[in-house]
Amino acid sequence: AKEYQNILVSSPAKGVTLITLNRPKALNALNSALFHELNEATEIADNDPEVGAIVLTGSEKAFAAGADIKEMKDKQYADAYKTNFLGHWTKLTTVRKPIVAAVSGFALGGGCELAMMCDIILASPTANFGQPEINLGVIPGAGGTQRLTKAVGKSTAMEMVLTGRNFSADDAERRGLISRVVREGSVVDEAVKVASTIAKKGQIAVQAAKEGVNASFELSLQEGTRFERRLFQSLFATKDQKEGMAAFAEKRKANFTHE
Ligand code: CAA
Repeated sequence: AKEYQNILVSSPAKGVTLITLNRPKALNALNSALFHELNEATEIADNDPEVGAIVLTGSEKAFAAGADIKEMKDKQYADAYKTNFLGHWTKLTTVRKPIVAAVSGFALGGGCELAMMCDIILASPTANFGQPEINLGVIPGAGGTQRLTKAVGKSTAMEMVLTGRNFSADDAERRGLISRVVREGSVVDEAVKVASTIAKKGQIAVQAAKEGVNASFELSLQEGTRFERRLFQSLFATKDQKEGMAAFAEKRKANFTHE
């Protein structure tokens, strides 16, 4: 895999790319260079036919402690506006393959928002989620007022965003922010297992499934279910559908070829 300055990229299991944020001294604060590398690495994985799913993680102490405050503290409005500051972060949400976030330690500000841009979040009991931007005189700028509200509802989102209060892994699970809490020290292994399970499915169906779930955030129920039905119908044009259903009828395991 390619060498980067701020992330590590590896393949811990067949069909899985593991991306590890690697600015330990800054608790994985998300500076611009890191995000450009993350965008490049996810794009490479997205376009690699051998890859079925991506895992994104940080360190034991911090998934990511937010956008890099030192990098942005002297920024001026004109520059922020003209360069569409943080606009490049949204590229992650255009990745077609599933991304599983494995969160240990701090997931604050942009770190929490980064986790929420992923498709599934698994957390260690040490994980800590929060949107502390209000303490810096700003507000979340990468989805914290939007994705968080959709995930946990208005009251919890307002409490997090307005007071800067952090939530534990258990709280985050109870409130539906994450999929589940796993045993301490096992979050990357568990996330790789989930990614590996996904990587064994037919990639076209996986991609369509992700597209469908994500559409639920944008469309009315009627439009959303219509879009889902069209996606569902379109899968009858794939070999994977023929193989998957034939394998069921013949009582054997399906061998998907992603066609
Ligand atoms: N940006 C830049 N540097 C950061 C950082 C950040 N978000 N978070 C931590 N660091 C740096 C610290 O400055 C420190 O560096 P030095 O050793 O050079 O001083 C190093 O990481 C270790 O941090 P601490 O000494 O503070 O570690 P701690 O264990 O005492 O505290 C913490 C941990 C509670 C997470 C604390 O570091 C902290 O509060 N960090 C900032 C959290 C935050 O406000 N995040 C939101 C950022 S704004 C944002 O994300 C905008 C957006 O919506 C996109």
